[in-house]
Amino acid sequence: MPHLLNTNQVLDGLRGLRLHGPVVYNEVTGSTNDDARQLALEEAAEGTIVIADSQTGGRGRHGRVWLGEPGHSLLFSVILRPGIPTTEYHWLVNVSGVAAATACAALSGRMVGTKWPNDIVFAGRKLGGVLLEARAPEFAVVGIGLNISTSADGFPQELQGTAVSLAELSQDAIPREHLLVRVLRELDALYGLLQTGQTDRILSRQQQLETLLGQQVTAQLGTERLTGVARALAPTGGLIIDTAAGERIIETGEVTLLRPTYPEASA
Ligand code: BTN
Repeated sequence: MPHLLNTNQVLDGLRGLRLHGPVVYNEVTGSTNDDARQLALEEAAEGTIVIADSQTGGRGRHGRVWLGEPGHSLLFSVILRPGIPTTEYHWLVNVSGVAAATACAALSGRMVGTKWPNDIVFAGRKLGGVLLEARAPEFAVVGIGLNISTSADGFPQELQGTAVSLAELSQDAIPREHLLVRVLRELDALYGLLQTGQTDRILSRQQQLETLLGQQVTAQLGTERLTGVARALAPTGGLIIDTAAGERIIETGEVTLLRPTYPEASA
């Protein structure tokens, strides 16, 4: 049975950061994003972190359900008060994805990357995701879910083969506290870059992690479907796709790999 999260250890690890807590921890909640939003509406400070061992109403993008066996995932949300133009809020997805992928790669020693716009992946399988919900310009809630110790057959049937957990990547168990602190330390630094307008530095970090680049993809944009090669990240944080009809930059959408190749394909 997974142990309860040690919030003091988390708070120790966050000393000196802007995103330093407080930490609100519940074994079970509806959705950490909902809890964080409620706290933000009640004037909770930037850097407040809401963590749960399991969620009864956890959600992902496009209204999808975000499931997780109790204690086998890292599920948390952070309140941010970015003070940047509302039109720049989408960068919070980029910085959160880069932060989470960097932390997972560092602690597992494996090539964890991002899959634009919001997935954390290993060898094409989903390790986690980011859900940004904002009430701009007052606050944003960044929710991150990472699969930690779910066994390969512990995922719901429809995710088997497409989801992966850190335990499959690393011989050594990675304590959730370590991972959470590492993600938040990365996020704190990248968030600072965003607030000081250094999106070029965010992009160069993301470019190194982005698994779609150079790959043949399809992108679903509402009713339109684009096919081409994902060439680069755009200065806006979007994705540049070279199609037969020329270059297209997409700022949101579902992107699927057509003929995936991965540098590190065996877990
Ligand atoms: C996605 O891949 O679609 C995003 C998944 C985000 C899930 C996290 S878990 C913590 C936070 N609370 C939620 O209800 N969702 C996010």
